[in-house]
Amino acid sequence: MQLTQTLLLTILAATCGIVCHKHGKTKKFEVEYEWTFINFTWESETDYQNAVNTKTYIPENNLISGFKFYKDAFYFALPRLCKGTPVTVAYFSTKNTTPKTGPLLIPFPDWKTNDVNNPSCDNLVNVQSLEIDVNGVMWVVDGTRQAPSKCPPKLVLYDLNNKGKTIHTYIFPNDVCLHNGGFLNDIVIDDSDGTFAYIPDTSFIDPGLVAYSRAKNRAWKLRDASMFPEIKAAGFVVNGDVINPLYPIDGIALSPKVSSGSRRVYYSSLTGVRLYSISTKLLKNETVFSGDGWRRNVKYVGTKRAQSDGMIMDNVGVLYYGLLPLDAIEKWNTNEPLKKAEVVYQNYKTMIWPDSFCFDNSGNVYVLADEIYKLILSKCVFNSSQNYVKYRIFKSFTGTQSYLYTAK
Ligand SMILES: *[C@@H]1O[C@H](CO)[C@@H](O)[C@H](O)[C@H]1NC(C)=O
Ligand SMILES: *[C@@H]1O[C@H](CO)[C@@H](O)[C@H](O)[C@H]1NC(C)=O
Ligand SMILES: *[C@@H]1O[C@H](CO)[C@@H](O)[C@H](O)[C@H]1NC(C)=O
Repeated sequence: MQLTQTLLLTILAATCGIVCHKHGKTKKFEVEYEWTFINFTWESETDYQNAVNTKTYIPENNLISGFKFYKDAFYFALPRLCKGTPVTVAYFSTKNTTPKTGPLLIPFPDWKTNDVNNPSCDNLVNVQSLEIDVNGVMWVVDGTRQAPSKCPPKLVLYDLNNKGKTIHTYIFPNDVCLHNGGFLNDIVIDDSDGTFAYIPDTSFIDPGLVAYSRAKNRAWKLRDASMFPEIKAAGFVVNGDVINPLYPIDGIALSPKVSSGSRRVYYSSLTGVRLYSISTKLLKNETVFSGDGWRRNVKYVGTKRAQSDGMIMDNVGVLYYGLLPLDAIEKWNTNEPLKKAEVVYQNYKTMIWPDSFCFDNSGNVYVLADEIYKLILSKCVFNSSQNYVKYRIFKSFTGTQSYLYTAK
């Protein structure tokens, strides 16, 4: 990153506390849940001891990267970045007397399906994100294959209103998501004019935006320069660590349903500050992408204050995203120019790497801040000094719902 940009970010970071207060815009984001180590509801003490002894479970290697809320529970994606990660999808119910510190996660749909040693490719291999539609169907993106795997990347749909029953599985062909090197990172669901999912592929080799049609049971991929990393945005600093890898398209958000016109998918590269959008009318049409003409419909929206990971839009068109080098959350009302976006929360000690967002149905937005980058940068080399809180779920009242729900 250029020095001027680093300086600018530092100044912004230093002043926001004051600036945000001065404008009376500081929204309260409060920690709801936090973890030092992600741990599970083991079937027995023996199972737990065995998992520890055989290094099937290495506590410090387990992390959560994506989450969504449905009814009374949070559902989590736990990518297997490192060894010793026995579970890749799990949940916990907020209704129970779960402690707010270190609630144990329950493997979803069960232990067996999470077992990577089981030879069946019906198992969940490496899940980075998930989304739950308005009917309670959870769409699980099992699509990270950074090393040779005999199981191709897939999308699995579970019915949360029917005991988590599997209702559909779709295998991504290699030309949509590389079976060795694909990195399906996030997902939004569009249930207007048929049911579609849009999924960014953060692959270093073949980045792009994947569209999946439930009716056709087919997926296709858009590749565009707007989905590449921005070299100039590399080398930003998070909590003292320099982030050098060049990550392409990463966070995406879908605008809410409107009475006229089509919805838009917003996206940005992780190593990047430029925000783009594209109409879903285009994304839904598989044949458009055989030509080149569609590229003029990729809209450059503007430049964000900083690099971000996940993002989410609510049902009145307000976009929330993290500002990674600033340990902050920004919000932008998409009905206004991007330069009016405002930092709504900042905390150098706790809001480290805001990664994923979700809404409940009581008007709250949640953000998960994790230290995913530490495991990536250290290549899973850890030591006992990691005995501190690394994962936090913050909550803030917005009075809105997610983009999936029609505004009343
Ligand atoms: C994980 O949870 C089990 C109980 O289910 C407990 O015995 C164990 O100490 C916990 N381990 C860690 C690393 O938190
Ligand atoms: C899809 O795109 C093709 C090529 O641009 C166009 O001919 C066709 O009419 C489009 N289909 C729909 C349903 O918009
Ligand atoms: C453990 O990690 C800390 C913080 O990253 C580092 O300062 C320390 O040198 C490490 N210790 C060992 C034994 O690697």
